[in-house]
Amino acid sequence: MGSLWGSIMLLCGVVLLSTEGSRVQQTKNNVPRLKLSYKDMLESKNLVTFEGLANSSAYHTFLLDEEKGRLVVGAKDHIFSFNLLNISKDYAQIPWPASLTRRDECKWAGKDLSRECSNFIKVLQPFNQTHLYVCGTGAFHPVCSYLEVGKKPEDSVFRLEPHTENGRGKSPYDPRLLTASMLIDGELYAGTSADFMGRDFAIFRTLGKHHPIRTEQHDSRWLNDPRFVGVHLIPESDNPEDDKIYLFFRENALDGEHAGKATHARIGQLCKNDLGGHRSLVNKWTTFLKARLVCSVPGSNGIDTHFDELQDVFLMSSKDPKSPIIYGVFTTSSNIFKGSAVCMYSMTDIRRVFLGPYAHRDGPNYQWVPFQGRVPYPRPGTCPSKTFGGFDTTKDLPDEVVTFARSHPAMFNPIYPINNRPIIVKTDVDYQFTQIVVDKVEAEDGQYDVMFIGTDMGTILKVVSIPRGSWHDLEEVLLEEMTVFREPTAITAMELSTKQQQLYLGSDIGVSQMSLHRCEVYGKACAECCLARDPYCAWDGTECSRYFPMAKRRTRRQDIRNGDPLTQCSDLQHHDELNGQTTLLDKTVYGVENSSTFLECSPKSLRALTYWQYQRSTDDHKQEIKSEERYIRTDQGLLIRTLEKKDSGIYLCQAVEHGFMQTLLKVTLEVIDTERLEDLLHHDEEVAASGPALDLSSPRETPNHKLWYRDFLSLVNHPTLNSVDEFCEQVWKREKKHRKQKAHLVQQAQMQQQQQKVVINPHTHMHAQELSAKWKHLQERQKGRNRRTHELERAPRSV
Ligand SMILES: *[C@@H]1O[C@H](CO)[C@@H](O)[C@H](O)[C@H]1NC(C)=O
Ligand SMILES: *[C@@H]1O[C@H](CO)[C@@H](O)[C@H](O)[C@H]1NC(C)=O
Ligand SMILES: *[C@@H]1O[C@H](CO)[C@@H](O)[C@H](O)[C@H]1NC(C)=O
Ligand SMILES: *[C@@H]1O[C@H](CO)[C@@H](O)[C@H](O)[C@H]1NC(C)=O
Repeated sequence: MGSLWGSIMLLCGVVLLSTEGSRVQQTKNNVPRLKLSYKDMLESKNLVTFEGLANSSAYHTFLLDEEKGRLVVGAKDHIFSFNLLNISKDYAQIPWPASLTRRDECKWAGKDLSRECSNFIKVLQPFNQTHLYVCGTGAFHPVCSYLEVGKKPEDSVFRLEPHTENGRGKSPYDPRLLTASMLIDGELYAGTSADFMGRDFAIFRTLGKHHPIRTEQHDSRWLNDPRFVGVHLIPESDNPEDDKIYLFFRENALDGEHAGKATHARIGQLCKNDLGGHRSLVNKWTTFLKARLVCSVPGSNGIDTHFDELQDVFLMSSKDPKSPIIYGVFTTSSNIFKGSAVCMYSMTDIRRVFLGPYAHRDGPNYQWVPFQGRVPYPRPGTCPSKTFGGFDTTKDLPDEVVTFARSHPAMFNPIYPINNRPIIVKTDVDYQFTQIVVDKVEAEDGQYDVMFIGTDMGTILKVVSIPRGSWHDLEEVLLEEMTVFREPTAITAMELSTKQQQLYLGSDIGVSQMSLHRCEVYGKACAECCLARDPYCAWDGTECSRYFPMAKRRTRRQDIRNGDPLTQCSDLQHHDELNGQTTLLDKTVYGVENSSTFLECSPKSLRALTYWQYQRSTDDHKQEIKSEERYIRTDQGLLIRTLEKKDSGIYLCQAVEHGFMQTLLKVTLEVIDTERLEDLLHHDEEVAASGPALDLSSPRETPNHKLWYRDFLSLVNHPTLNSVDEFCEQVWKREKKHRKQKAHLVQQAQMQQQQQKVVINPHTHMHAQELSAKWKHLQERQKGRNRRTHELERAPRSV
């Protein structure tokens, strides 16, 4: 037995794979390195769940409060407050159902009582030091109130003010409609629909000291059946007067902008200090502009594949608060083609488009063109401030500016993603992306953005983008795919706490919490830790654990960029060996001529390719086994269909990942020819007939005895093989004959108990009779298994 890593070889994976030219060896870049089921997650204590209340659902509205250590969640008829340390430990809940009268009215209006006529919480925003502002659909009659949460964590207050306010323009009526909202300086910005029918969509500003303000009504140039996914404030300069509010949404493409019905992803901008126009656009935004966000991949046929259904956005802050990086999650609109993508946008590109040409057309039957005429001053979209020139409020804007703004809300140029293409595209899977959060992680060789992407199947993908050569050539590494809900359900809310190193997830059926990293699952060797390329994890000398950039420990090993275990771990190899942490699996397997055998070998990492080598004896040269008629390579191992005598030898199972090869398993296969098998059985029969106990403990046994025993072991270890069938068949025949001769048979139950002992302890003394009974038992098990498989194909036999 040698160290697992004793056999690491530096190999150029590409050369290896192409020259050997084998069929199964495609790249595995699109599969997660590790896939953890819901059960795996719970059992490894990497998931804490809140399974939801029987009378609630739709745990979709999240507010993370790291200072108070709470996660406030809005759901159907309830508001919850969870402990960030452990959401299932001590949570508080406030029931906030719609009144019976409202529910009745909702039902009479033709709505579904259980699914629509409840109070679905849609808005949850910090209001002041002690209170949150909260709004719900109120059974198609939106309501808002104040939720007292206290100033400090120890206040432990969680109380809803009894009086309610009208929630129109804050929460939608219909619970299925998306609302994006943000409360700043006592004012609530919300993209929502403001009528019962769900037709009057607008961006509102309500609350606070100003008159409510909104987008122009019934003008599809402004908003065309939008669905809002996010609102953010991004400063434009160091002067707060220039602060802008950005809204992210998807909507129907403008009439004439696209042949047929299409969806476009949009970013809209507003000035925070917009008070509306004086003569025209009174109490309407005068600084609203929108632009299209493009996320597409060029096709080989020249036709781009567009991902237009914007699902979520995440703003990754940078040193400069004016320039966060915007991550957008998109899906396709197509019914035939299911796909998702993540695109990244820079504020520089966004501002350039808003400063570019306005989209213009002369009439309903004209094309949209870039506006070529004279743009009035101050340029529409500019905030009233001292920075960009002399006006104090939007009420002072010249009429021609307001008139122009009213008829030109869209920009002509779209905004393209950084590097002009998505950073992640997924098209060959049965799920779609729904949510994203991104964490900036400090690693030994630099800073990485780790993305956590939620899907509509209740899973989370953890992805890191690693620059290959430059920042323009990114390699997407899918580190983990984890199931975080007990059944497939769309992930609709996601919050990341850097302080707790935890991720919180919402869905229709409950709330889940998971750690950002599970370093221990990568394995127990330095190289496994290194190959994982997880920026959160490093080899600390004894195990794969959380990496802290501050800790100055000489033994920390991590290489995200190259994932090279050779440079990182080779000097530790000896250490591993000493601790006996990794040992190469080395075993002997017996097979019977003309039967089949299966050599099991599946690497821990789903990204590794397995590769089999054959060697006649230890000193012989190794040759690759290719898939052909006799050999079938699967993800679980190697199947040899018909064993020939010449197949005896050493089989090496190698895992190749990221250009590095490791030997996982070394199997010595011995093929027993049929003659020897007959001998063997015949011999046993003689022994059995004469009655003496078969002593298997002595190494000085006759060769046949030893072989008998070893065969027995190998067959018990692999009871699924054809060879077992054949072997057992013969033993069974012999046993029947034997039974006639011998009257007393040892109890079957006793045999079963001894079965374990037989396999584990080679010093067990076994009577031949027991052996026979054992074989019979084994054979019956085998028969039962065969019967079950046959039942799939034909009707069960009558017994
Ligand atoms: C839902 O059930 C919980 C008990 O599990 C109860 O405390 C709560 O008041 C109920 N909510 C409504 C709206 O009836
Ligand atoms: C969270 O709390 C629950 C209930 O008290 C407990 O069973 C569980 O072990 C805790 N989980 C963690 C990770 O602390
Ligand atoms: C916060 O707002 C609530 C509701 O208007 C009010 O009752 C409370 O006094 C305010 N708290 C502070 C600290 O201003
Ligand atoms: C094994 O198969 C080969 C080819 O089919 C045949 O010639 C040979 O007789 C078989 N051996 C036994 C022992 O069945």
